[in-house]
Amino acid sequence: MTYRTPRRLLVTLAALAAAVVALGAPGPGSPDTAAAQPPPYQDPGLPVDERVEDLLGRMTLAEKIGQMTLVDRSALDSPSDLATHRIGGVLSGGGSAPTPNTAESWADMYDAFQDAALSTPLAIPVLYGVDAVHGHNNVRGATIFPHNIGLGAAGDPTLVERIGRATAEEMAGTGVDWNFAPCLCVARDDRWGRTYESFGETPELPTAMATLVTGLQGESLGDPASVLATAKHYVGDGGTAGGDDQGDTRIDEAELRAVHLPPYREAIARGVGSVMVSYSSWNGEKLHGHDYLVNELLKGELGFEGFVVSDWAGVDQLDGREGFTGAEISDAVNAGVDMVMVPHDHVRFVELLRAEVEAGRVTTARVDDANRRILARKFELGLFERPHTDRSLTATVGSAEHRELAREAVAASQVLLKNDGGTLPLAGDARILVAGKNADDIGHQSGGWTISWQGGSGETTPGTTILEGIRARAGDASQVVYDREGEGVDGSYDVAVAVVGETPYAEGAGDRPDGLGLDEEDRATLANLRASGVPLVVVLVSGRPLDVADEIDGWDALLAAWLPGTEGAGVADVLYGDRAPTGTLPVTWMADVGQQPINEGDGQQPLFPYGFGLTY
Ligand code: GLC
Repeated sequence: MTYRTPRRLLVTLAALAAAVVALGAPGPGSPDTAAAQPPPYQDPGLPVDERVEDLLGRMTLAEKIGQMTLVDRSALDSPSDLATHRIGGVLSGGGSAPTPNTAESWADMYDAFQDAALSTPLAIPVLYGVDAVHGHNNVRGATIFPHNIGLGAAGDPTLVERIGRATAEEMAGTGVDWNFAPCLCVARDDRWGRTYESFGETPELPTAMATLVTGLQGESLGDPASVLATAKHYVGDGGTAGGDDQGDTRIDEAELRAVHLPPYREAIARGVGSVMVSYSSWNGEKLHGHDYLVNELLKGELGFEGFVVSDWAGVDQLDGREGFTGAEISDAVNAGVDMVMVPHDHVRFVELLRAEVEAGRVTTARVDDANRRILARKFELGLFERPHTDRSLTATVGSAEHRELAREAVAASQVLLKNDGGTLPLAGDARILVAGKNADDIGHQSGGWTISWQGGSGETTPGTTILEGIRARAGDASQVVYDREGEGVDGSYDVAVAVVGETPYAEGAGDRPDGLGLDEEDRATLANLRASGVPLVVVLVSGRPLDVADEIDGWDALLAAWLPGTEGAGVADVLYGDRAPTGTLPVTWMADVGQQPINEGDGQQPLFPYGFGLTY
């Protein structure tokens, strides 16, 4: 016998079912709605720490180890390789770029890595890191800002914050979400190849310029254009004996705390999301395995809650032998390194770290702590909600607005050290002979970390050379003649401008333990010009002070231009007086290389003291 249910009752039941389903409880005959609900970690409405705990509870040991693994893009045969080993981080080492090297292909590359990461069971997005240390400098066409030493000379924290924001926009426009910057090193010996990566020789300048963290991370890490910043290289990298890159900083704890630690306090106060440990040592003990300085001081006393990343194969150096071992991995991880920049041979790394955990030499509690620190940043960045490139930002790469900001920064960074007889500013109608290897070379004026790791010569990326800037500013460009060697200069010229200095380098390749003088080419060029008797303006394009005391008497004017980047017109703005020189020395200028290390207050007599700078 069948009972026919009255229609009214059927309608009521259907309405009731719909209401119950809408409330999220399993309704009669409806699919199990609990299965349709996203897991808590995928709910952006929940607090980050709740999302982290939910996700952590779902992860296998392999997945947790994968989050602690950072590989260079060149180590992966394909993006899917990343999914196979659950890799949590990818980087582009200096110059590691897709082909073609354009903003669009960077964004396509980034999105392909994210798609691979999202194809894994828990769909944990990947972090992608680069050294955008003076603009998004791996990308051809990006705006290249002055290196940090020039920004230290400009002495304007707000300008540096603006540069951080512009850099973040260009990075986000290519997808890249993590910057291994700012370098907050305090450069104490100018023979160090990374002096130009420092804002200055006193803790005050790097501390003041930690505003770059705020520029990069924005008011909220979750903003579309915000990227994760990295304070590096913790700690004391700029204080090594002899300026030996990756060397030994031999000072007592009081000096380490007074000179090298303050910028990290400021970066942490500004919420920096990651810290990179230094290759260098403190009194013979490597920072990559330094439990006291990383666990106790950085994470304990300073309360750093972000994650600590190793430097490129930095773990390999712990035992002084090539390659890495399980023991080195556990030493570094137990000292407080949360993510290891392997950067190649990640399969072996994952196997060795797993073995260390299974042997109890790295506890699961340590693995979980590292994962909490990393995953919290990924949630804060909004990567789970917006894993792909925001293509509306791609057009910011190398934009006119950013290049204008860079030109402003170039002008603000110029330091006028000598100006006899009012040689500067140049008259608009002056007939000028421009000379020197650095006058018409974008690569030279940008320095290291530009398109390639070591930087290069020639038209490495679109920009305006210093010569082009002078020609554009001159009343009649035909009155500006360029001769690299300074040949042909005669009394028909009102003034000669020699743009000389250093050619690009990065890291240890720039260490100069044997002297900081001008090279032979520059000395020959300057000799040609001096012989003419024409007033001589020297523009020094270099990553640091150079030993010029024996030459400077033959110069009428000297302008320290540092490493200005793509917007060379900013130098012309100061040479012609459109912008008065306002920069001051962020580092003491030696009278002789024998004085190195030479720093403010050490009682030595420099050629020009820290803080010196003339104006018009
Ligand atoms: C380099 C540098 C470090 C950089 C890293 C990744 O060796 O020491 O500053 O962030 O490797 O390129």
